[in-house]
Parts: sequence; C-alpha cells; structure tokens
Amino acid sequence: MPLDEEFMAFLNTEQKFGSLTKFFHWTIFLLLCLQFILAQLFDYYPEDSSEFYRTIVWHETNGVLILISILGLFISRFLGKRPPYPAQVATWEKALSRLTHVLLFAFLFFIPLIGIGMSWFSGYDVAFFKWSIPSPFAANKYMANLFHELHEIFAFIAFGLIVLHIAAALFHHFVRKDNILNRMRPFGKV
Ligand code: HEM
Ligand code: HEM
Repeated sequence: MPLDEEFMAFLNTEQKFGSLTKFFHWTIFLLLCLQFILAQLFDYYPEDSSEFYRTIVWHETNGVLILISILGLFISRFLGKRPPYPAQVATWEKALSRLTHVLLFAFLFFIPLIGIGMSWFSGYDVAFFKWSIPSPFAANKYMANLFHELHEIFAFIAFGLIVLHIAAALFHHFVRKDNILNRMRPFGKV
C-alpha cells in the first residue's frame, strides 16, 4: 500500500472511520465498562478496607485514561473528514445522533475532571498507576460534596446516553441494515 494511502487508513476519510478513531472509540468503550464495574465495587467494600483503597486507585487511574482517550477521539475527528450519514437517515435522526455525540464528548470530558476535583477538594492526591498527582487546592468539604454529587449525577446521565447510543448503532445494523456500525468495526474492511 503506498504511504499516503496507508496514512489515510489511519485517519478518517469520507468513506470510513480511520484506525486512530476506531482505536480511541473502542478503548473508551472497554475502559468505561471497567469504570462502571469499579464504581459498583465502592458500595461492596467497607470504606476503610485495603480493597476499597485499591478500587479507588484503579478507578482514578482508569478515569484519567478515559480523559486522555476522549481527548484523543476528539482530536482524531479534526485530523480527517467525517464519513457522511447514508442518504436514508432522516434529518431529525442526524440531529439526534450529533447531539448524542456532542453530549458524550462533553460528559466524558467533565466527569473525570470533576472526579479529579472531588479527590483534590477532599484533601487526597489523584492516583495514576504508581504515581500520585498532588492537590493544588486546600481541602474544602463543601466543594468536595458538591463535586461528589455532580460526579454521580453526570455518570448516571452518561450511562443513559451510552445506552441510547448503543441502541441506535444496533438499530441501524439489524433493522435498517445500513453500514453505520460496519464502518466503526474495529477489524475488517467496510
Ligand atoms: C469517565 C470517567 C468516570 C466515570 C464514568 C466515573 C463514575 C463514577 C461513579 C458511577 C461513581 C459512584 C458514585 C457514587 O455512588 O458515589 C464514582 C465515584 C468516584 N469516582 Fe469516578 N468516574 C470517572 C472518573 C473518575 C476520575 C478521573 C476520578 C479521580 C481521579 C474519580 C474519582 C472518584 C471517586 C473518588 C469516587 C467516590 C468513591 C466514594 O464513594 O468514596 N472518578 N465514579
Ligand atoms: C462506552 C461506550 C461508548 C462511547 C462513549 C461512544 C462514543 C462515541 C462517540 C463520541 C462517537 C462519535 C465519534 C466521532 O464522531 O468522531 C461514536 C461513534 C460511533 N459509535 Fe460509539 N461509543 C460507545 C460505544 C459504542 C458501541 C458499544 C457501539 C456499537 C454497538 C458503538 C457504535 C458507534 C458507531 C457505529 C459510531 C459511528 C456513528 C456515526 O457514523 O455517526 N459505540 N461513539
């Protein structure tokens, strides 16, 4: 394959999503599945146990990875073209799809930032693998509680958006039988 063609397979084209977008998209999917499982474990372990502490470390590390990946997915949008919707997709469907994508980008950007703020205002460093990112703020109980509430509510809304997004992708694939899901497939040609 000539070098410029290979590069186009890396970026999005008018026909399909490139491997960079696919990589970030499916990485985010896997990390988010893990993130919601880790969040469930918070209720399972007693708060002063070493298991709870370890779950926090992995939740924070994974959350920072999600933040990096969502920025990667966002940047990859602007490096290439975006494949247009098939002609039979109605205007309201395109609008709903775009709105869902914008909201997913926004929520998955702000939820980790709010999580980081929550930890810092609680007086804790943020864990990232074996490193810890120290808080630039003084501990503040009011802000810590506010950020905790926002983190929980936003995560709940993001979960709803993800369900809607997946339902739409499956609807297009199995009912409409168009190529929307195929062009985001991690492997294989469209
Ligand atoms: C997209 C990424 C993230 C998602 C979807 C997410 C989701 C959640 C959910 C659902 C909870 C449980 C809320 C509750 O019941 O109280 C939670 C708790 C928490 N999250 Fe996240 N989170 C994310 C990223 C982060 C990040 C980056 C950090 C910090 C660096 C963080 C720190 C925390 C902390 C400290 C808790 C509270 C644990 C406790 O109950 O004491 N989260 N998160
Ligand atoms: C955690 C879950 C997920 C998140 C946060 C997410 C997020 C996103 C975002 C932000 C886009 C827009 C990308 C862009 O415009 O550059 C997108 C596109 C897409 N996603 Fe997901 N996604 C998730 C899971 C899934 C799953 C499980 C499927 C398949 C069953 C799927 C199928 C698609 C498809 C087909 C597109 C392209 C839609 C189009 O052409 O307009 N996504 N996703």
